[in-house]
Amino acid sequence: MNTATHTILSPYASKISGTGSAFPRDRLTNDDLAKRVDTSDEWITERTGIRERRISRPGHPDEQNSSLALAAALKALEMAGKTPDQIDQILYATVTPDTIIPSSACWLQKKLGAHRAWAMDLNAACSGFIFALATADQFIRSGQVKTSLIIGADVLSSVTNWSDRGSCILFGDGAGAAIVERTDSEAPHRILSSHLGSDGNLWEHFHVPAGGSNLEVTPDAYSKNLHKMHMKGKEIFKSAVRTLSDYALLAIESNQLKPEDIDWIIPHQANLRIIEAVAKRLDFPMSKVLVNIDRFGNTSSATVPTALDEAIRDGRIKKGQTLLLDVFGAGLTYGSVLVRW
Ligand code: UT7
Repeated sequence: MNTATHTILSPYASKISGTGSAFPRDRLTNDDLAKRVDTSDEWITERTGIRERRISRPGHPDEQNSSLALAAALKALEMAGKTPDQIDQILYATVTPDTIIPSSACWLQKKLGAHRAWAMDLNAACSGFIFALATADQFIRSGQVKTSLIIGADVLSSVTNWSDRGSCILFGDGAGAAIVERTDSEAPHRILSSHLGSDGNLWEHFHVPAGGSNLEVTPDAYSKNLHKMHMKGKEIFKSAVRTLSDYALLAIESNQLKPEDIDWIIPHQANLRIIEAVAKRLDFPMSKVLVNIDRFGNTSSATVPTALDEAIRDGRIKKGQTLLLDVFGAGLTYGSVLVRW
């Protein structure tokens, strides 16, 4: 277990000052999916909590990964009262970049006109937004960066095997953004801690075999759907419950808090049953857990920032509240960030 808590003595801390989110226009309901594979609305709702998800129109200029990120980033900038030329750094978490080269971060920098920012992609799968947030926090605390734009955006529909009922029911497309900026180390509203972890031994639980340098997408690989996601659902389910619970407790205990001190848990949205199992383990009421999986499915790195953004905008999250962001993803990767909003 890697613990990246705040050990550097710094006059700075970082705070989230704006959030935004964006989704493609088209809804894909469970009934729509039941026309493609042998499944039903009842099975999907009961086993996952998902009712519908949004799917990008392939090739549509407004629904490319970086176009969704652009829409989310503009909303986050507006909330933070910032302009693109004030961004020093763009950290873009995704596993479905617009192109392998250049990065989605560079596409976004161009679309946003954030000419001062340096930009890079970061791959930690569904944990990506938290890994990006923790990275931004470190750059800000070191004094190198004042204002960072963090993106969690994925178009998972591009790597979904639409003939595999065991996985295609889960995923959707979307983008979330946050502006993270420098504040004083003792400021009331700030990021309190971050803890990250990975276990590459469990790579086989969730991977895309072809399309990287190990295996090109040859006609043979294509015909076997090796360029699409391959998932061991039951194995991931178990690791997810374990790591989400462990990293929630790590965040709580390292800040000398108790579960009841947390106002909201914002977990990765992969399956409502995973979220409920974690809440039960922590003895934490579901009424204080933010859930958007019913409407958007698993949008990978976008789940946490979009759920966060929704609750900030509709007033559920209030100033001064303590938020626990808690994730897991392929790799495997996992982590938590504690925020005083
Ligand atoms: O970001 C991380 C990404 N992935 C995850 O977090 C995935 C975590 N895992 C899960 O969410 C769940 O394991 C699934 C939703 C993928 C599957 O749910 P499950 O309760 O673990 O079902 P199962 O795989 O044990 O399958 C139970 C039955 C099987 O039939 P039999 O063998 O009992 O006859 C499956 O063939 O349900 C069948 N089944 C389906 N039936 C209708 C599997 N998928 C479907 C389906 N519709 N879509």
